[in-house]
Amino acid sequence: MQNQDVPYRLLQKSNCTSTFYLKDCITGLKENVKEKSADVVVTSPPYNIGTGYSSYKDELPREKYLAWIEEVGIAIKQALKDDGSFFLNIGDKPKDPWIAWDVAYVLRKYFVLQNIIHWVKSIAINKAQVGNYPNISGDIAVGHFKPIVSKRFLNDCHEYIFHFTKYGDVHLDKLAVGVSYQDKTNIERWKAANKEDRRDRGNIWFIPYQTIQSRSKQRPHPATFPVKLPDMCIRLHGSAKLVIDPFIGIGSTAVAAMRLGISFVGFEIDKEYLDAAIDRITQV
Ligand SMILES: C[S@@+](CC[C@H](N)C(=O)[O-])C[C@H]1O[C@@H](n2cnc3c(N)ncnc32)[C@H](O)[C@@H]1O
Repeated sequence: MQNQDVPYRLLQKSNCTSTFYLKDCITGLKENVKEKSADVVVTSPPYNIGTGYSSYKDELPREKYLAWIEEVGIAIKQALKDDGSFFLNIGDKPKDPWIAWDVAYVLRKYFVLQNIIHWVKSIAINKAQVGNYPNISGDIAVGHFKPIVSKRFLNDCHEYIFHFTKYGDVHLDKLAVGVSYQDKTNIERWKAANKEDRRDRGNIWFIPYQTIQSRSKQRPHPATFPVKLPDMCIRLHGSAKLVIDPFIGIGSTAVAAMRLGISFVGFEIDKEYLDAAIDRITQV
């Protein structure tokens, strides 16, 4: 039986250390993370929508689930620096669209909701509606689209990334995830452009999943986010020494942090997922 007080695995690369615990995150955040030490927390908890995880049962009564999320939020707040950022990715299901908001409402007691980012997984753009954009030559429908059979519900093409902070005043490095101007005359026209061809991206982030051939081999987990998602959150926050993910899954946040040269601490209760996460990060 693994001793949960010691890391399951510790990986060192240049100046950064990635620490993986096979452990419940509430206990882990309290026992293994120094108070006010994390610059950024990026995570995605179970959504309580019956996802088929290997160990975790994703079907608690709503009150119990929200009480548990509250405990997680308290533990995250304790670990987060006063000027840190906590990015919480959460979605829902068409029959129960309030889950994400119920979770946000619980966390409202402990954090300020500084930004709401919409993670768009799939989008359709009609050429006729955008007018004369040189880069758009026809109708576009891009991203990951899994059709649902329903006469009531639209396909759910997005999830939330709630950006929580302690006081709502964290300065962000918006241009680190910025985009270039379509109309270059705006660079001169807008003072805020600072003569740079880069502007704030806004809060709609199109991040598709990478196409894979075999789910069991390449994505052995039913609910991951693309590495690009934590990567953008971390870079938006700006300079960071420590990133935490309380729900590691197969390690997307760990991979992003390692690629950016930032130390990482994370927790996962499922050994199979944790092994897959460690496999992934050893390849970075
Ligand atoms: C939505 S997934 C996270 C996926 C991850 N973002 C990725 O891209 O791989 C949630 C994960 O939380 C894990 N989990 C559930 N309860 C936990 C707990 N109390 N402590 C730590 N991990 C837990 C589940 O096993 C699952 O892998």
